[in-house]
Amino acid sequence: MKRIGVFTSGGDAPGMNAAIRAVVRQAAVLGLEVVGIRRGYAGMIQGEFLPLGPRDVANILQRGGTVLLTARSQAFMTEEGRKKAYENLQQAGIEGLVAIGGDGTFRGAMRLIEEFRLPVVGVPGTIDNDLYGTDYTIGFDTAVNTALEAIDRIRDTAASHERVFLIEVMGRNSGFIALDVGIAGGAEVIALPEAPVDPRAVAEVLLESQRRGKTSSIVVVAEGAYPGGAEGLLRAIRSHAEVEARVTVLGHIQRGGSPTAKDRILASRLGAAAVEALVGGTSGVMVGEVEGEVELTPLKDAVERKKDIQRALLDLARVLSI
Ligand code: F6P
Repeated sequence: MKRIGVFTSGGDAPGMNAAIRAVVRQAAVLGLEVVGIRRGYAGMIQGEFLPLGPRDVANILQRGGTVLLTARSQAFMTEEGRKKAYENLQQAGIEGLVAIGGDGTFRGAMRLIEEFRLPVVGVPGTIDNDLYGTDYTIGFDTAVNTALEAIDRIRDTAASHERVFLIEVMGRNSGFIALDVGIAGGAEVIALPEAPVDPRAVAEVLLESQRRGKTSSIVVVAEGAYPGGAEGLLRAIRSHAEVEARVTVLGHIQRGGSPTAKDRILASRLGAAAVEALVGGTSGVMVGEVEGEVELTPLKDAVERKKDIQRALLDLARVLSI
């Protein structure tokens, strides 16, 4: 293998740049050329390629977002789009790919492997932490810390006004962010897609908290935990009890910002490991970190097997919010 491509796809995540840098520099050390593909699968179809050498990735380690840009491509869902993408890769002499992203990115990679026998190795880059085969995904730690900082600020005003706040965090299908910020932010209630929430029970917890003399309460709601997110949950709570509350949706603020040290280290390690795997003739796997060690997991398992939330943490949150 002489030349490999690297791209980011799907929702961006802090640390993706650190992963790109690691891919480019590890490849250079192993004597490989690297081509950066802009805008993920969309750029592959458009032929948006640029050579990347070690100096081209200087000073990106600490930056949020992705210098290669990202997209969610509809055209790549079609056979014609994928054929065009493969032809462009062939023309550019790209013999293998490092795909940085989440489940959608890996599903696309699996199609390239199946249909064209192109070697691809995945690097888990998503704030959601919802990929099986790695304890943490790149971007999760930063997103949690960003959300936590916001929650701490909201707690100040909630306590001053003796108010209830429902704070919506990202996670359409997974509650990893909500669970961690809920614990770290001392939430009275944590609502996750993995543990259906009963508005009547939430109303009861909030009223009981008031009876116990709590001056403020925070309910952390993952966006996919209830239809309509935090707003929807509040409407449902109000149909059971009179609760005076405010809603804050943290939104895309959670996807930006400089990556934490933890994310930079994880991204550096996994980016380099992906190149080593690819050069070693491995394909169709995601490189992850499990209990401190780099592990390879089939892409199919990474996207299809369910990574469970730590239910013990949910119980702990209930105990500690007394
Ligand atoms: O997958 C990452 C993520 O940030 C999810 O948590 C969220 O549901 C989704 O992307 C939002 O996507 P978009 O930026 O396309 O609105």
